[in-house]
Amino acid sequence: MTGVIKGTGASVPSYILENKDLESLVETSDAWIRERTGIERRHIAIEETTVSMAARAAQEALEEAKLSPEQIDMILVSTMSPEDIMPCTACQVQREIKASHAVCFDLSAACSGFVMAYVTACAYIEAGIFQNILVIGSECLSNVTDWSDRGTCILFGDGAGAVVVAAEEGTGYLPAIYSDGARGEALTLKSRPNHKPFGEESPGEEETPCYIQMDGQAIFKFAARSIPQAIEEVIRRNRLHKGDIAYYVLHQANERIVEAVAKRLGEPAYKFPMNMREYGNTSSASIPLLLHEMKEQGLLHSGDRLVLAGFGGGLTWGTAILTWK
Ligand code: COA
Repeated sequence: MTGVIKGTGASVPSYILENKDLESLVETSDAWIRERTGIERRHIAIEETTVSMAARAAQEALEEAKLSPEQIDMILVSTMSPEDIMPCTACQVQREIKASHAVCFDLSAACSGFVMAYVTACAYIEAGIFQNILVIGSECLSNVTDWSDRGTCILFGDGAGAVVVAAEEGTGYLPAIYSDGARGEALTLKSRPNHKPFGEESPGEEETPCYIQMDGQAIFKFAARSIPQAIEEVIRRNRLHKGDIAYYVLHQANERIVEAVAKRLGEPAYKFPMNMREYGNTSSASIPLLLHEMKEQGLLHSGDRLVLAGFGGGLTWGTAILTWK
């Protein structure tokens, strides 16, 4: 048995924040942001939440897969911007979509989270434990962004993407997934403003701000070096060649990172679709959002082999191969 994507869905907030709008918040310019990142705008949640976007994306994926919510065995949500620690986002999505038979939990691996969750879903299917799994990446990064920090606030956006992974006869692919906790301080999001250690009267006064903090250049170099290596490795592990890959679906952080990866691999630009121009970096949501768009645009054909590649906080990074249904 192996896991096959039977449906995709996406949901993004309706409010759009243009680069120009950021000029009134921090000292930056539309031209600088476009040139350094390729981002032109991002969607920001006003009414929407991590749960509501995840649920909407999940419903769309279920419709395409022609499955009812009750047929879902498991819901895995990757997020680093949950509304609540408990109940987890996956359980709240279960409540929203009425997937009453599913076991649900969240997975935290920052911008690599969708790849990690997809690989986890495939492992459950290949072990014969579950048949139908919803894998969701959903983020409200606007809630954890310091809107006075021009080094980060220009990058991020909100949104959700979902896929239904279902069991089919066949053999799966081996992933290549990695972590390096020793380099974790390069990209952080400290938790809980009301943290109250045992024995203290009230929350500590010197709280670390609960925003994304980043050494941009260190992350850029990490991604540009480690992703080509992980792609080469996943192709090698599965006894394939670059010519067997139709598209590389990379985490959408920065156009220059994607271009650097393509150059290092010696692969043509058309194999690296991008959409961060419209959404910015949506962390866990970026890969399923892009997959959904590629499908909607008719780019994906039955039998196409895709490489998914994520990288981000932890540090974490990883690649997985799939064959399009
Ligand atoms: N607008 C205008 N100027 C800015 C700016 C902004 N938003 N942010 C930084 N600058 C300035 C810097 O202060 C610096 O000025 P100086 O030369 O006078 O000191 C100059 O621009 C260059 O800064 P630098 O940090 O070298 O820019 P960069 O080319 O590395 O681009 C990032 C910055 C953040 C866009 C880039 O490092 C990046 O994308 N890194 C990866 C981040 C990422 O993807 N993180 C998520 C991974 S999941």
